[in-house]
Amino acid sequence: MNHNPLSQTKILLGVTGSIAAYKAADLASKLTQGGAQVNTILTDAATKFISPLTFQSVTGQLAYTEADLWGAQAHVLHVGLAHEADLLLIAPATAHTMAKLAQGSADDLLSLTALALGTDEGSAPLLIAPAMDAGMFSHAATQENLRILVERGAVIIGPEQGHLASGLVAKGRMTEPVEIIGHVRYQLSRSGPLQGQQVVVTAGATQEPLDPVRYLSNRASGRQGFALAQAALDAGAQVILISGPTHLPPPVGAEYINTRTAEEMKAATLQACQSADALLMAAAVADFRPAQFTDQKIKKSSGTPAIELTANPDILAAIKNQRAKLGHPKVVVGFAAESHDLLANAQNKLKSKGLDLIAANDISATDAGFAVDTNRVTLLHADGQQEELPLMSKAEVAAEIIKRIIPLLGEEHGS
Ligand code: CTP
Repeated sequence: MNHNPLSQTKILLGVTGSIAAYKAADLASKLTQGGAQVNTILTDAATKFISPLTFQSVTGQLAYTEADLWGAQAHVLHVGLAHEADLLLIAPATAHTMAKLAQGSADDLLSLTALALGTDEGSAPLLIAPAMDAGMFSHAATQENLRILVERGAVIIGPEQGHLASGLVAKGRMTEPVEIIGHVRYQLSRSGPLQGQQVVVTAGATQEPLDPVRYLSNRASGRQGFALAQAALDAGAQVILISGPTHLPPPVGAEYINTRTAEEMKAATLQACQSADALLMAAAVADFRPAQFTDQKIKKSSGTPAIELTANPDILAAIKNQRAKLGHPKVVVGFAAESHDLLANAQNKLKSKGLDLIAANDISATDAGFAVDTNRVTLLHADGQQEELPLMSKAEVAAEIIKRIIPLLGEEHGS
């Protein structure tokens, strides 16, 4: 089971009069699919672009408009909506709406609700995803309003550089729904069980260059490591994600460090782990690299080269030394990729690398391990406990691993 910060939360989605309002329907749908209860408030201008019925249909919840503010059932509607909400997300937010929020002007249901949300400690977070033409966004008045809103604790998402309705290609596009949801997820997870804990995750394959165009690498995609970073964030941790080259988007809220070679990954991991609480070492580090790097492309005409290899450092061995000196990280989790003798090999790695937990996976299976979305792992604990998990998504495997490091970190705190 996956701890999903969206599930069972009440999200208020404010939609204002921008052409990006059509994307808000996708956003509402994805938030609902993620398990949130989504109530929408549309401004009058928003209803010119998109209908409340669209939101009611994708969320299964009421979508409110100005008419509801003045309706018979509307006794302090804005206060009720604000107090029930776990989070208010305004996407898209026009320059006009932001100006009203900055001023505390409350003349429609959305601005009334935003004001009723409050700015006290413990008030529900306010997230704003602006969308407008570039000149309007860079205008000193808009920038000043943004500054005021940020000072009061609002989270501003985007806008992004890209094609705008005016034909300009500039900064003003609303951030894509998937990324906005990443921000919502991050805000909702901050008080989770790993709150205040620093978790370092390594992911992906390293690349070991031979010449300017060629390198040695392996089939790891980075998916399991990225899923671990997301699961650690979902549990409230501060996350540093150190990855080899990959096209995967880093989860919102993680500090992302891009590395290429095993040496680079080792340096970044040792540095990040100096004060970390946990290290999840999911990267598939190349054990060998070409002994020589030629800075000119190796030409066919020079004949077939024999490539001599040299050993790369073992990052977990270096971490073991550093941990002995600094006492950090307090918990270290490794992975074992094995094609045979899975458990015996994993058990050896658990011991020799000084791990608290190792996730062993059989890379010869086609539905688990490299470059697929599912994984089947056996977890071996330092205390001898062994758990065979069924085939599950990499996100679920990640959540299971995070669930097991929570008590381990708790013990460390207690000691
Ligand atoms: N690892 C590491 N540094 C390396 C190689 C591996 O820190 N140079 C880490 C991996 O990130 C993983 C664990 O060690 O968490 C086991 O990796 P694996 O590739 O399964 O094992 P190896 O140590 O490379 O041993 P072998 O080649 O014998 O399988």
